[in-house]
Amino acid sequence: MPERSEGTAPTVLSVGDHVLILIARIFPAMLPWAAKPTLIAGSTLTAGPGRRMTKYTDFINYHLSMLIDETRTGAYRQAIAQAVKPGDVVVDVGCGSGMLSFLACRAGARHVHAIESEAVIEMARLVAARHEFQHRITFYHDHSFKVELPERADVIVTETMGTFGFEEGIIGSLTDARDRFLAQGGTLIPHSLALFLVPVELPKFYEHVVDFWVNRCQGFDFSPVRALTVNNVHPLKLHEGTFLGDPARAEDVRFTDVAHTEIDADCSFRVTRRGQLHGLAGWFDAALTPALRISNGPRERASHWGLAFFPIDRPVVVERGHRIEVEMRSGGNGSSWAWNVTVNGHRFEQSTEKGSPPSRTEEPSIRKKR
Ligand SMILES: C[S@@+](CC[C@H](N)C(=O)[O-])C[C@H]1O[C@@H](n2cnc3c(N)ncnc32)[C@H](O)[C@@H]1O
Repeated sequence: MPERSEGTAPTVLSVGDHVLILIARIFPAMLPWAAKPTLIAGSTLTAGPGRRMTKYTDFINYHLSMLIDETRTGAYRQAIAQAVKPGDVVVDVGCGSGMLSFLACRAGARHVHAIESEAVIEMARLVAARHEFQHRITFYHDHSFKVELPERADVIVTETMGTFGFEEGIIGSLTDARDRFLAQGGTLIPHSLALFLVPVELPKFYEHVVDFWVNRCQGFDFSPVRALTVNNVHPLKLHEGTFLGDPARAEDVRFTDVAHTEIDADCSFRVTRRGQLHGLAGWFDAALTPALRISNGPRERASHWGLAFFPIDRPVVVERGHRIEVEMRSGGNGSSWAWNVTVNGHRFEQSTEKGSPPSRTEEPSIRKKR
């Protein structure tokens, strides 16, 4: 990943900008601002089934950003080429644009069951129709939990990893698919996933994303928003100069035998330099095959994923040798997170449950159905 400085105010980007950034990584001269620190608009914590995509261009651009991410798509291409043998039955959970299903066909799959809950599946059908392998793919426009298949699969593949690994519901989706669709001795891609956390100093980012809300904007008091934003997870790019300690491997999940969807990723850190603690940065490292990993960690090749920033309510000055204790919990199959941070006699209890206004749970469309 290109090293970036956290020295200037981050830029808020749209999905289209995000696509341009990926292009700019390939042709750096095209977009000089793409080298600046970035806040990625639209947390991937809301990605996956249920995400609100109102316009088809949202689907096209979202999937474009993943398709042109060679770190991601190239790793899956290699993993599928290694795992899928001619004659295999493959299940693609969350097929999106269809790319992984097409790669499985190219590897010789006898049949691919391609499952997708969102309307992007129509894009996959359109593309499949351009190829001779179209008759080897059956598309299911539904959530995988609701799909029944006529046969068991030799390989189940899914790319439903969020910025912090689990927030797109991969544990629930993959374990359900494992139990109902996988043949004895079959292969899961990925077969395991680890989470990493590190304490970080991010003064500019914190000022921009959190403390912006305490100042009046156009003369109006937006201060209630601050309590929401410190209870949200923010995707961002950062470099190792922001670290206040060594990264910790906080959790390891083996999809081959995990039986729960909740994560307890507790860890502790020894501070390695003086600074201000603004929160934690997190990322995942997934094993696609025994020989192939993919990660959005700060030392890895650039990808469309940023890292996940978990802010604390107030910055705390820390000295070399201080200890930071972290309790990190997920609920709702990765859709909600709580992070408690204890440092120098301070304790912060942040949670995505506190990250949206109460009215979000009382939407008129939901009330009407009751
Ligand atoms: C990150 S995208 C990847 C798309 C495609 N597999 C690729 O690699 O380009 C994940 C897709 O999976 C879908 N998805 C996630 N979990 C799912 C599930 N359990 N059942 C059906 N679709 C799911 C989402 O709607 C989204 O389109």
